[in-house]
Amino acid sequence: MGSAAAVEFDHVWYSYSGGKYALRDVSFRVAAGEIVALVGRNGSGKTTALRHLNGLLKPTRGTVSILGVDTKETSAGRLSRHVGLVFQSPRTQLFAQTALEEAAFGPRNFRLKDPLEAARRALASLGLGGFERVPPLSMSGGQQKRLSIAAATSWYPEIVGLDEPTVGQDLVNRMRLLGLIKLWSSRGVTTIIASHDVEFLWLLEPRVIAMSNGSIVADGSAREVLLNQTAVDAMGFRPPQLVEIAEKLRILSGKSKTVADVVSGLTRTGR
Ligand SMILES: Nc1ncnc2c1ncn2[C@@H]1O[C@H](COP(=O)(O)OP(=O)(O)OP(=O)(O)O)[C@@H](O)[C@H]1O
Ligand SMILES: [Mg+2]
Repeated sequence: MGSAAAVEFDHVWYSYSGGKYALRDVSFRVAAGEIVALVGRNGSGKTTALRHLNGLLKPTRGTVSILGVDTKETSAGRLSRHVGLVFQSPRTQLFAQTALEEAAFGPRNFRLKDPLEAARRALASLGLGGFERVPPLSMSGGQQKRLSIAAATSWYPEIVGLDEPTVGQDLVNRMRLLGLIKLWSSRGVTTIIASHDVEFLWLLEPRVIAMSNGSIVADGSAREVLLNQTAVDAMGFRPPQLVEIAEKLRILSGKSKTVADVVSGLTRTGR
């Protein structure tokens, strides 16, 4: 036996109020510091899987363990100390009078030494420095999403679940988010993201778990899964455009990755 995984799904089945299964025999282990993306069509079970991370949902069958603890053996309150979860629609999560208070809620709740300082840092890390006194509900959709990420991570949880974090984010903020997730990872924070944003995932290079009808159909590196034709067909997404362009031009076949790679490939082939 190795040490406990940060997150472990062991033959998890889940059905909402006795309906058809939204998760069907899902098993995976995520190590501390790993970045994992869940991809798949609408309704494939990504959000349902994320809701299992903090015990909001508990498996109908099978086991979810967080830092070695079975979510059925502990309370959602206890789990929330370790898991920051950001939902698909941020408005449902925002309740405080100001952005600073929103981000300070977790640090206060979990009795950090300096809750306001933790909150300020979280806001700044999401490009919301200067928004401290702004009422959350008067912020734009993209800003609210980033505020909900700040508020879900301001107390330094070991595990972060992000549901569609790039929706509504401009380029600067997408890149900021990318850097932040990598920084968390370097500090041992485990991040699980549900996303349809193939271009973003290509740059983030997470481990990718592809889901279809509640089951895992592929699990591997971003390159393996996002370029795997069978997974792509099952998933209904397109491979990153950069890769398509490079392949159509027959440069760097299967190897192209960054814009710089493609440009140097074009230069070398004299196009
Ligand atoms: N609260 C709910 N009550 C009943 N069924 C639900 C509920 N939430 C989701 N489902 C069902 O569970 C299945 C998985 O939904 P889920 O939200 O996990 O998909 P998803 O992969 O996150 O999709 P999307 O890409 O649209 O966000 C779907 O069939 C959906 O209809
Ligand atoms: Mg979803």
